[in-house]
Amino acid sequence: MRKWLFAAAMAAVIAAPGAVMAQSPIIIKFSHVVANDTPKGKGALKFKELAEKYTNGKVKVEVYPNSTLYKDKEEIEALQLGAVQMLAPSTAKFAPLGAKEFEALDLPWLFKDDATYAKAMKGPVGQWLFKKLESKGITGLAYWDNGFHMVSANRPLLNPADFQGLKMRISGSKIADRYFRDLGAIPQILAFSEVYQALQTGVVDGCENTPSNYLTQKFHEVQKDITVSNHAHLQYAVIVNTKFWNGLPADIRKELDKAMDEATDYTNSIARKENEDALAAIKASGKTTLHYLTDDQRKAWQTAMRPTYGWAKGRVGQEVLDLIAKELDIKMN
Ligand code: LMR
Repeated sequence: MRKWLFAAAMAAVIAAPGAVMAQSPIIIKFSHVVANDTPKGKGALKFKELAEKYTNGKVKVEVYPNSTLYKDKEEIEALQLGAVQMLAPSTAKFAPLGAKEFEALDLPWLFKDDATYAKAMKGPVGQWLFKKLESKGITGLAYWDNGFHMVSANRPLLNPADFQGLKMRISGSKIADRYFRDLGAIPQILAFSEVYQALQTGVVDGCENTPSNYLTQKFHEVQKDITVSNHAHLQYAVIVNTKFWNGLPADIRKELDKAMDEATDYTNSIARKENEDALAAIKASGKTTLHYLTDDQRKAWQTAMRPTYGWAKGRVGQEVLDLIAKELDIKMN
């Protein structure tokens, strides 16, 4: 038996001496659900470029965009099992990880602008949330921005009453479920890769998302009316399997941390412009009508969605709500 193994090994050396001598790279599979041409898609490719450069090819990052490897829920399971090493899911999808506190970030009209969001995530709120992942075998590395949600259907959504009875696709957060119910809609969770077809065939009537996601998934081609409402925010947490991450040689991990820091700055710096450009392209396509809320209409939405705040306490707990309220200098109730 031993002799046979030795012979096989020798044959391999003779066939491909370089392959046996060279150390094979550490592979990081980075799976995500959006297109390459989005803030997250570009961020993942930037991380790949920098990680491979800083480690002199000792690490190879394989980016799988557009749910090519896994859909929403499956990718989180795959990370916990170690089948992929890195993800950047929307924080609205963290309840299956046992970290529903992240859903506090989905509260409607929470962040008044991008800068307020960025500041909150860099401070204690972002850190506190990452701590929630530790016991789940997951390490949080960074927060990546996308921007504010629009909302759409095949009729103009201008007043809360316009939502009555509409089936709205949501990505997973119970907070989003709740604010759509406040408006009289019927929310339904669907994986991101299934949304276009669900809209096209009428399985759902409408959805919410950022301009870059609408454009790259062509949602605007199957929704007659989009309201640029900015009613909630979409952000991602870049997460890794802790066992994998802590098992990396320290010098490699240091380079990867550097690559991630730079990829994060890059992603967060392009998110706004990417979405502005996407919105302009949606408008130019002529395939949908864009609507903007008047001050009175916005106030009516805010009033209608307000009960979500009282309800959120039972879902995400008081602690995270207090932290956010302090950070943003706002009242939660
Ligand atoms: C969604 O499912 O709508 C989003 O989470 C997609 C994404 O990752 O931007």
